[in-house]
Amino acid sequence: MWKARLSELEFDDRELGAVLDTLNSEWITAGPRTEAFEKAFAELTGAAEAVAVSNGTAALFLALRALGIGSGDEVLCPSLTFVATAAAVLHCGATPVLVDIVSLSNPTIDPDDAASKITSRTKALLPVHYAGIPADMDRLCELAEAHGLFLVEDAAHAPGARFAGKACGSFGAAGCFSFFGNKNITTAEGGMITTSDPELAGRLRLLRSHGMTVTSWDRNKGRPAHYDVLEFGFNFRLDDIRAALGLVQLEKLPQLNRGRAKLAQRYNTGFTEMGCDLILPLASAGTLKEPACHIYPVVCGSSEERDRLAMVLKEEGIQTSIHYPPIHEFTAFRRLDSGVDLPVTEAFASRELTLPLYPSLTEAQVDDIVSSTLRKTLPQT
Ligand SMILES: Cc1ncc(COP(=O)(O)O)c(C=O)c1O
Repeated sequence: MWKARLSELEFDDRELGAVLDTLNSEWITAGPRTEAFEKAFAELTGAAEAVAVSNGTAALFLALRALGIGSGDEVLCPSLTFVATAAAVLHCGATPVLVDIVSLSNPTIDPDDAASKITSRTKALLPVHYAGIPADMDRLCELAEAHGLFLVEDAAHAPGARFAGKACGSFGAAGCFSFFGNKNITTAEGGMITTSDPELAGRLRLLRSHGMTVTSWDRNKGRPAHYDVLEFGFNFRLDDIRAALGLVQLEKLPQLNRGRAKLAQRYNTGFTEMGCDLILPLASAGTLKEPACHIYPVVCGSSEERDRLAMVLKEEGIQTSIHYPPIHEFTAFRRLDSGVDLPVTEAFASRELTLPLYPSLTEAQVDDIVSSTLRKTLPQT
């Protein structure tokens, strides 16, 4: 149906071989491949440890929970994100305090708006590296330090992204990643928490697996079967089948991200050379930020123009999406708090359209999408 879908899987024989090898091995649940995936992922971010979990939502929830965030606490996060960011806070029993974005060209959490919303109950700052564009980490780290807040990064879009040369996911107490099917690397479902705090890593590993002191893999390696439960936890483990996929995908990540960056640059050049009025966040990231180019967002002149463009592209077989309907406009959130005012987020969300971006998209396809977009957005002479 689609000539160009929003995202595609970037699998070849290596992923298939890795999964088959695992199925043919004696171990399919969390075991040696999961441990190897964790080690390789920690190396990617420079964090001392990485803890694999069943998805990105579990990563966010478990990180906040292991940091002791709970009832009565407030966590600052953007409204322009996937609903999981705020839901993870709510499931800890805490309150997400929604913060505006900086601007239409920098759709990441606004440090000034965040600062103005800090109260005696604020415990953590939860920025999202939207589209793989690092949030303003210098300002956010200062803010977290000055107010004694935990910094937890929602890095679901940002494996391999860097701010001032430092990897996203390595700035604060914890970094949370998703390996859902549309992400820069995928394990179908899967997630990872990075941290350089060994105590936190220990707590995460415990809570990930029912608070048990011994895992099945430990027992298979010969550890005694006796175990204790130190606190009531969850089953948020990642299995070795998914970890095998993750190991191959992680090896490909630098090449996949280079492919994304090259195509994003082609979109940027195509649009700017034609002098169109679209706002291009990935063209405005600046030199400090090395984005992971997870998606390619454009901001149209109005919501009507955005909707018309989406319709025209659909007719031409080009799939688009909207990232994101803001959290404060969802019914479930309005029930909690109907008085949130986030003007920049609202303007962005009403005018944003996401165009296809994945490493195997061809330059010719990008050129076609640019031409189709320009036909709709440039004034006709
Ligand atoms: C910004 C953001 N945060 C969190 C998540 C949740 O990740 P998962 O779908 O793996 O639970 C996603 C994934 O869709 C996301 O895009």
